[in-house]
Amino acid sequence: MTTATVRTEQVSIDLGERSYPILIGSGLLDQAATWAQLPKAAAALIVTNDTVAPLYAAQLAKALGAHYAAVHTVVLPDGEVHKDWSTLNLIFDALLQKGCDRKTVLFALGGGVVGDMTGFAAASYMRGVPFVQVPTTLLAQVDSSVGGKTAINHPLGKNMIGAFYQPHQVVCDLGSLKTLPRRELSAGLAEVIKYGPIADMAFLDWIEANLDAMLAGDVAALAYAVKRSCEIKAWVVAQDEREGGLRAILNFGHTFGHAVESGMGYGAWLHGEGVGCGMVMAATLSQRLGLIDGKLVARLMRLIHHAGLPVQGPLLSDIDNAGRYLELMRVDKKAEAGEIRFVVIDGPGKAAMRSAPDALVREVIDACCVSV
Ligand code: NAD
Ligand code: GLY
Repeated sequence: MTTATVRTEQVSIDLGERSYPILIGSGLLDQAATWAQLPKAAAALIVTNDTVAPLYAAQLAKALGAHYAAVHTVVLPDGEVHKDWSTLNLIFDALLQKGCDRKTVLFALGGGVVGDMTGFAAASYMRGVPFVQVPTTLLAQVDSSVGGKTAINHPLGKNMIGAFYQPHQVVCDLGSLKTLPRRELSAGLAEVIKYGPIADMAFLDWIEANLDAMLAGDVAALAYAVKRSCEIKAWVVAQDEREGGLRAILNFGHTFGHAVESGMGYGAWLHGEGVGCGMVMAATLSQRLGLIDGKLVARLMRLIHHAGLPVQGPLLSDIDNAGRYLELMRVDKKAEAGEIRFVVIDGPGKAAMRSAPDALVREVIDACCVSV
């Protein structure tokens, strides 16, 4: 990653009294201005994991020491496989053991797994305490830390138990991406790419032109990707915070992708990898529904491949692979009365929700899956 610094940018998410700023810049963890608007409280609890804690927890604790009389830390086991009740309970254990009151501020320091669990803990501890997102993966900076979706997984379905609960602030320090493994950077790029076909074709052009720079860790390119992604997400969430309709477009590729994640066993395929091949399946479905031409599907496939992501889904069953995908996708939160609802591209830069006959979905899955 380049060592250059960038000017700090702010994107605001407009949700009335629950509005909040997303700060994007380099070296933010160490800058006093980053922490100027924190909620007043006696104590803070940093929630992180055993990979991120040795990298950034001391730095964050030092910054928060200027604002809170007590700064505690709870270190969770790392991994999607631990995004469950027993790990969530470790956060409640820490809050209660430290005598934390209902003003205590939680800080989610890590990727989307830590962010989603910390948000859910904040939503429910003493019926709600404030929390701040400090995302340290690209995926979390461009997507999961923004918009207030919090959750844990259930063995039968991804992110099935959770709450909508908005953070007080989001702090995207691009400096933290310097330690991110390449595979995780690619996973984050899946969520960057998704914004193009659903909302902004000019951004898709920009991603194509700047993909190599992002993969090389160019801070200016990553800063723009985070900013534009957050702007698009903020625009969608401000119109439909609790996913009554429009917000579902942010799940482009996720219906297929969640089936990959849970079907392969949580953690075997990264969320972004499931979304990568899931976007190819969703684009292929869009083409077969007559909504887009093959050129856009091929363009997306090239980009997803170039980003280091799989463009073909794994076989989830040797006997009836498409049937297994369909079974898993019926547990998706967008399904209504057992009917799967897909986010499709409804012309370049525009998304829509559609159901599709099982036979057509089977054709798409058969065309897009390989044995891995
Ligand atoms: P993750 O949280 O598992 O992080 C990926 C890996 O990178 C982990 O091993 C983590 O410990 C490590 N890591 C984090 N920051 C690091 C750093 N700076 N340097 C080195 N290693 C670092 O995965 P993720 O991709 O960040 O998030 C995926 C999760 O986010 C999934 O559970 C998904 O369901 C969820 N998600 C939620 C939303 C939402 O709106 N709430 C949106 C998209 C995804
Ligand atoms: N990541 C999808 C959403 O926040 O709605």
